Amino acid sequence: MSRHPRKTRISAKLYRATTLFLTAFLASATVVDSSFSQEASKPSIMIGDFEGKDYGDWTVEGDAFGTAPVWGYKLGGMGSVFGYRGEKLVNTLVPNGDAATGTLTSPEFAIERDYIVFHIGGGAFPGETGVSLIVDGKTIKTETGLFNQSRVGHEGLEPRVWNVKEFLGRKAKIVVFDKKAGGDWGHIKADYFYQTDESIPGGANYVLLPDDAQPVEYNPMILGQFIEHFHRQVYGGIFEPGSPLADEIGLRKDVVEALRELRVPIVRWPGGCFVSAYHWIYGTGAERQPYFDKAWHVEDPNTFGTAEYVKWCRLIGAEPYICTNAGTGTPEEMSDWVEYCNLNVGKYGRKRIADGDPEPFNVKYWSVGNENWGGHEMGAKTVEEWGPLVRESSKLMINTDPNIKLLAAALPNENWTVPLLKTAGHLLDYVSIHGYWSWIDKDKKPAPYIRCMMLTTRPELDMLHTIDMLDRTGFRGRIKIAFDEWNLRGWHHPGIGNPKALDLEARKLNDDNSVYTMADALFSACFLNSCLRRCEDVTMACFSPVVNVRGALYVYPEGIVKRTTFHVFKLYGELLEKNYLPVDFASEILKDGEQSTPKIDVALTCDDAKERFTLVVVNKDPENAAQTALRFDKLVGKLPEEIKATVLQGSSADSYNDVGNENAVVPEEITLKIEDGKVSIPPHALCFLRFVK
Ligand code: AHR
Repeated sequence: MSRHPRKTRISAKLYRATTLFLTAFLASATVVDSSFSQEASKPSIMIGDFEGKDYGDWTVEGDAFGTAPVWGYKLGGMGSVFGYRGEKLVNTLVPNGDAATGTLTSPEFAIERDYIVFHIGGGAFPGETGVSLIVDGKTIKTETGLFNQSRVGHEGLEPRVWNVKEFLGRKAKIVVFDKKAGGDWGHIKADYFYQTDESIPGGANYVLLPDDAQPVEYNPMILGQFIEHFHRQVYGGIFEPGSPLADEIGLRKDVVEALRELRVPIVRWPGGCFVSAYHWIYGTGAERQPYFDKAWHVEDPNTFGTAEYVKWCRLIGAEPYICTNAGTGTPEEMSDWVEYCNLNVGKYGRKRIADGDPEPFNVKYWSVGNENWGGHEMGAKTVEEWGPLVRESSKLMINTDPNIKLLAAALPNENWTVPLLKTAGHLLDYVSIHGYWSWIDKDKKPAPYIRCMMLTTRPELDMLHTIDMLDRTGFRGRIKIAFDEWNLRGWHHPGIGNPKALDLEARKLNDDNSVYTMADALFSACFLNSCLRRCEDVTMACFSPVVNVRGALYVYPEGIVKRTTFHVFKLYGELLEKNYLPVDFASEILKDGEQSTPKIDVALTCDDAKERFTLVVVNKDPENAAQTALRFDKLVGKLPEEIKATVLQGSSADSYNDVGNENAVVPEEITLKIEDGKVSIPPHALCFLRFVK
């Protein structure tokens, strides 16, 4: 392990892409200082961050700890792990399971600050699973894990603070121990040990700024969108020739206006599963033949093709991003599409000019394929086929236009993505991954609010897993992650991959606006916060889709409805500053049966001058406000007594917007009091707090 124990500020690098679901310490009031000091303090001293490729100068005994810290996405069969810092932690469940035993001991260090802060989780077995402080050879303090065999507790980590003022100047060691030889929860989790003079704020929820946290510019393309030829997204969505609301080529003007308001940075098109049997050439020129869409089992009129898409992107102010057919298509067909869009020469470049567009479309972002790993996809590929196909397709596409950026269909799975990277990684700029976390129940009911909240930490696990694969294959930094299809709710299309179960009628359930509540809004906000935390690696994300089905905008013949998620994208686009600034946060726990999640999710952004700050806080609790201590004195000096906030919450967690009730959930400007350094975040709310230095 790299950097402990030594006298240093906690480095900026350490805070890179921090997972900060530091969880509640409800039962441990005795170890937490409840004062809220705003005095300047000496820099913190790192004892163990567990971000390295091994345990560094900590000593491992026994077999419980393996040889290295564990990536946070490795759950070892558990539902979720949260509350660790950065990317990795100590987790004795993963290397060798619950039965393994052992200890992990820090090198000796001098106690030079008033407090030792660390994070702990795992089994609650006194004397068997825990963390101890040894001073001058004697065990002075011990903390036990959090979950017992009666299934009380949770799977995350919580912060703990040891007041060590009386031991200043003495020699100490920390021992993480797992002496439990078996049974459920016979493991310990721990992370991020440091010495500090700052007491962490009292109360269950807090947000604080670590020493030397450095701003990182995030890519606004994380606020991107996706549109597919499916149900009423294109036809009857953005494109409706003959409608009084459409322009001369059939593009709905009310939709364009709403999406301009959203400032959409990029839109991926035309699919999705649709693209894997789509031949682009038939969607160009004056002659358009309807054709049968084998992915979705409907006839596509083919009147919305490349030119219409690019024009629509320009109208809404978004960058076009084309996904190619790597199912039934060929590398040649893909590269001909690049030629059609971006060159003025060649058969296809000239065809575009002849079709009425003399200027190149200059489409910069191109993806090889969509989910070609899946049996549901037309022309699905084996892993052996995929790498070579991506390599050769990329080669032809780059040879047509070397300025394009290339993506390829991947997923957070070793067996698919590692071979892809090894074979074609040298030609790629991004890997494309997708996620839908809640599929409709068998009784056709969407998941209720609380179940959706339990899913809010999942997307970050997929990001981390993909980051790990990029890291291991040597592509981290050069290849970025595009989460270019994501939504809380899977689209409702019974029969995908199984035509005998096809139910075209059931697709209409996607149009039921009552489905899209504050659950969708808050899940989406947590997703975007995860992109911010991982912004060095995740530089594009496309909400799926932009209109209709599960989209942010509901479009019907007479008008539009801005669903709850529309306001989320608008607020993130308008209120965030351009840099992400890592924070530590701790949270109470929200439970649904045995599942748990941190009650709050937090992200902080700032301008280049570090003078303007926007703090985003999501309170997932459906009923109760979240009293949250803010420790921002390092940023803005003394906190004001009250602060203006923009809040999206609706009147209940199940509120939604609909035709005739369009404004049930809209952003509101409110004033929040800051008392004793704490602010009360309303229930089921997305809250933006702005601070100025
Ligand atoms: O459910 C939507 C479909 O999901 C998209 O077409 C595809 O990319 C994914 O499987």
